Amino acid sequence: MLLHHILSLSLSPLALLPFTLSAPLDSQSPLSSSTDVQPTSRVPSRYESTILGRRLLALSSTGVISSIFPSSNQSQATPWTPPPTSVSSLSISLPDYLADCDSPSVGNPTLLFLDPSTSSRNSRVLPDQDPGHPNNISLSLSWWDAYPLLTGHRPWAPADLPRLSMIGYLEEMSIREAEETGVVACYLRRHPDARLWLPGDEHAAHGGRWVRLVVREVYWMGGFGDRHWIGWFDREEWNAVREAEWGAVRLPGERD
Ligand SMILES: *[C@@H]1O[C@H](CO)[C@@H](O)[C@H](O)[C@H]1NC(C)=O
Ligand SMILES: *[C@@H]1O[C@H](CO)[C@@H](O)[C@H](O)[C@H]1NC(C)=O
Repeated sequence: MLLHHILSLSLSPLALLPFTLSAPLDSQSPLSSSTDVQPTSRVPSRYESTILGRRLLALSSTGVISSIFPSSNQSQATPWTPPPTSVSSLSISLPDYLADCDSPSVGNPTLLFLDPSTSSRNSRVLPDQDPGHPNNISLSLSWWDAYPLLTGHRPWAPADLPRLSMIGYLEEMSIREAEETGVVACYLRRHPDARLWLPGDEHAAHGGRWVRLVVREVYWMGGFGDRHWIGWFDREEWNAVREAEWGAVRLPGERD
């Protein structure tokens, strides 16, 4: 009986939680006593959600880039091992650094692409391609890593936390433009280690380039649909959100 008890305890999914079970129940949870006294919250509007999305971008240091391998008969002369032909025209998603460094920001994140990186290679305009139609990538963000760091406990349901995907094309910035517009200093405040691989630095291990993701569409998953907005943002609204607006809202688990 005791053995059975211990076994069932050790097999309980709760035992896998990395945080103590004595942590307070998340205020998001329907099991939380605080929901008894809170009125049912209203689903935010698209614009209110757009402001939350711009805050998610402003606070994010990393995201996941999805790019598409060229089709197999597009030649790409590079010193690196080519990808297997079985992945031609398929997408690949890889985590990367980012920072919201345009000033004033219109929601177009800055990336530092090193030449050997797959995301960088897949997004280059190839010689046989129309330069007016640069390759598109998507960059997704979530609040999943930030939430436990801020609150000290796991969310009741990560699925109820915000995430988004920005889809657009890359615009290259010259080193001079990146320096003069404060992009380099801003990026280094967010990623001090990137000092080791700055574009133009003769001691850098790899060549690299500053790029701006010019966001054309944003898909937002605010959380569960009964209390969060889910859908495509309006591009002009995304670009128009001011720092005073995203600075005044809070994402789940943030203190005032
Ligand atoms: C190779 O390129 C030709 C012409 O650009 C195109 O018609 C063909 O579909 C391509 N083949 C593959 C496998 O992508
Ligand atoms: C990227 O997306 C734009 C529309 O936003 C489109 O006009 C363009 O052709 C796309 N680029 C490629 C290489 O498919």
